[in-house]
Amino acid sequence: MEIIILPDSDAIGDLAGDAVTALLDRKPGAVLGLATGSSPLPVYDNLAARYDAGDVSFAQARAFTLDEYVGLDAGHPERYANVIHKEFTSRVDFEPGSVQGPNGLATDIPAACQSYEEAIHAAGGVDLQILGIGTDGHIAFNEPGSSLASRTRIKTLTRQTRIDNARFFDDDLDQVPTQCLTQGLATIMEARHIVLVATGQNKAEAVHQLAEGGVSALWPATILQHHPHVSVLVDEAAAGRLQLANYYRQTYAAKPVWQGL
Ligand code: F6R
Repeated sequence: MEIIILPDSDAIGDLAGDAVTALLDRKPGAVLGLATGSSPLPVYDNLAARYDAGDVSFAQARAFTLDEYVGLDAGHPERYANVIHKEFTSRVDFEPGSVQGPNGLATDIPAACQSYEEAIHAAGGVDLQILGIGTDGHIAFNEPGSSLASRTRIKTLTRQTRIDNARFFDDDLDQVPTQCLTQGLATIMEARHIVLVATGQNKAEAVHQLAEGGVSALWPATILQHHPHVSVLVDEAAAGRLQLANYYRQTYAAKPVWQGL
């Protein structure tokens, strides 16, 4: 796991944008994994700017989102299918139908989860997965207590996650759904490269646990310690509780340029 401490979210967006652009240069039909929430927005802004400048194309790429609320109607602005369309995929040149997400409106939820796993597999798996992290250490919506071997399934959101996300629902906790569909931890672990972004002091404990805690279902992101290629991009505030922060800084400063992310 590589920890990179950067000055601000623009620098995070730029470095993650470099990684996505380099991937699409060598593999135009790459499969991207997309997170929603606020953390990846600088990455999406950076990629949209590169697209506008003619520096990257998503025309042959495909994408899978991580998760979806259960029960929000199809037109709800906070439905993740609508959020990712607005924040990213409609701003670049993905082909219609090339971006998929779990179906939170399915009548047969287990069948919808199974078919989502099959769709990711049929696409050849995710080449680069963008992740955020919750204040409670969740990735996608794998809340504390999630099986480290979990696949796409229905989960109940913790009260903390619903409080954290109430800002997207008029600060009204009652409007935040209680359930979601989410890729499992084992699903995410199959991505070939994982780029996790975190900013702000409220992520500092989760980032510390992710990189330096014991692997445990209590902090689901710690499963990433078992992944061979994870890049964690954080600002100074999110790095605030890292015990080895100086070592990570020295390592990144000495990193050969050819290595990329
Ligand atoms: C959303 C997702 C979540 C978020 C996490 C952090 O698709 O996968 O794990 O990444 O809740 O959310 P933000 O970035 O809004 O702090």
